[in-house]
Amino acid sequence: MTTLRPMVTHTPDPARIDALREEMIAELRKLGAIRTEAVEKAIRAVGRHLFMPEETPEKAYAAEHALITKRDENGVSLSSVSAARIQAFMLEQADIRPGTRVLEIGSGGYNAALIAELVGPGGEVTTIDIDPDVIDRAKKLLPVAGYGRVHALVADGAEGEPTRAPYDRIVVTVEAADLAPAWADQLAPGGRIVVPLRLRGLTWSVAFQRENDDLVARDFEVCGFVPMRGAGARDEHLVVLHDGEGEEVGLRLDEGQVDAGQMRKALVGPGAEAWSGVTLGLGLPYDDLELWLVSALPEFALLAATRAARDRGVVASWSRRGVATLLDRGACSFAYLTMRPTTPERKVFEFGAVGHGPKAARVAEQLVTQVRAWDRDHRGHKPELRAFPVGTGDRRLPAGTVLESSAFRFTISWPVGR
Ligand SMILES: C[S@@+](CC[C@H](N)C(=O)[O-])C[C@H]1O[C@@H](n2cnc3c(N)ncnc32)[C@H](O)[C@@H]1O
Repeated sequence: MTTLRPMVTHTPDPARIDALREEMIAELRKLGAIRTEAVEKAIRAVGRHLFMPEETPEKAYAAEHALITKRDENGVSLSSVSAARIQAFMLEQADIRPGTRVLEIGSGGYNAALIAELVGPGGEVTTIDIDPDVIDRAKKLLPVAGYGRVHALVADGAEGEPTRAPYDRIVVTVEAADLAPAWADQLAPGGRIVVPLRLRGLTWSVAFQRENDDLVARDFEVCGFVPMRGAGARDEHLVVLHDGEGEEVGLRLDEGQVDAGQMRKALVGPGAEAWSGVTLGLGLPYDDLELWLVSALPEFALLAATRAARDRGVVASWSRRGVATLLDRGACSFAYLTMRPTTPERKVFEFGAVGHGPKAARVAEQLVTQVRAWDRDHRGHKPELRAFPVGTGDRRLPAGTVLESSAFRFTISWPVGR
């Protein structure tokens, strides 16, 4: 059984709405999510509350608030109006110009309205969603907000929307484990695809620019989205390592299998710590470290743990979704990224690793070696990500890590010689 959130309408005061919208814009600028006048103007023009009539205006205009509009029988989110912060960030990545044609994959209404503002009256916006309930909602809300000209239709995004192609921009607002060949086919020369792309379990908002025949990206940010359904769905594999009274720990695997029994045994056995000497200020981002580990670790997983398991010290991690983990399948061992405060005020943290299994100390040391390599050679730098259709020969690929998916071969190349 799926649950649709009923639309109970709030009647807001226009002056209050304007004030809240300005506060949200100021916050989005502070967070670096709004970087241009064009995106700021679009956000100022569209009533976000009109696409979230069931929310209070305060929640509708909270920069980090996403409204879940539909869940499956287990409570897992199927559809949402995304948080304004990630929407603004992705629109900046998309660099949408007046008079252009844009396809949005995954609808909610609000983001399509922002795109309609950016393309202006001379442009064209098409938004598609696999879920008829979502399109019904978008078709109801878009005209109320003044954006009846957006084409909203039910379709599986894995096929794009060929009838209105080519598109100057394709903005995917659902997590994809791969690029769909249809997107590349429907992209105009010089076009751009912005997509929350899952690479080895971690999802990055990536802007791929078409450069001649290649798709090249130099701009990424870690993000979270509901996963794609339909033909492009690719399930992750969760290996439960510990389960009891809300305390759950598991390994999320995007590739391959592990011996679950041995890994469970490894977790309860003695652990080994290793510390890198590499530090990070409280609250600062370390997306580039995660991307470095995605590209540098030979076998990769995410160690996911519920708050109860973390609070009780079953694992020394900090993320429900998961922290970067080095696997050694052959040795039935793994090591995950951890941090410890270096001062009593807890303002600076040192990265380290906790290893488990027969080779606990070795894998923990291997992980911190990569943390030190990132700090020494790559910190503050962004790699180049390229996507090549499957079948592209190795000789055509640039130097770097190659991640294989079903339709594309992704390469991650870090600048050398800092
Ligand atoms: C995060 S929501 C989209 C948010 C939206 N763009 C907004 O304005 O905030 C993701 C949407 O992707 C849709 N979706 C999932 N798989 C899809 C697919 N294969 N094709 C098209 N839409 C899909 C879901 O139904 C959901 O409505």
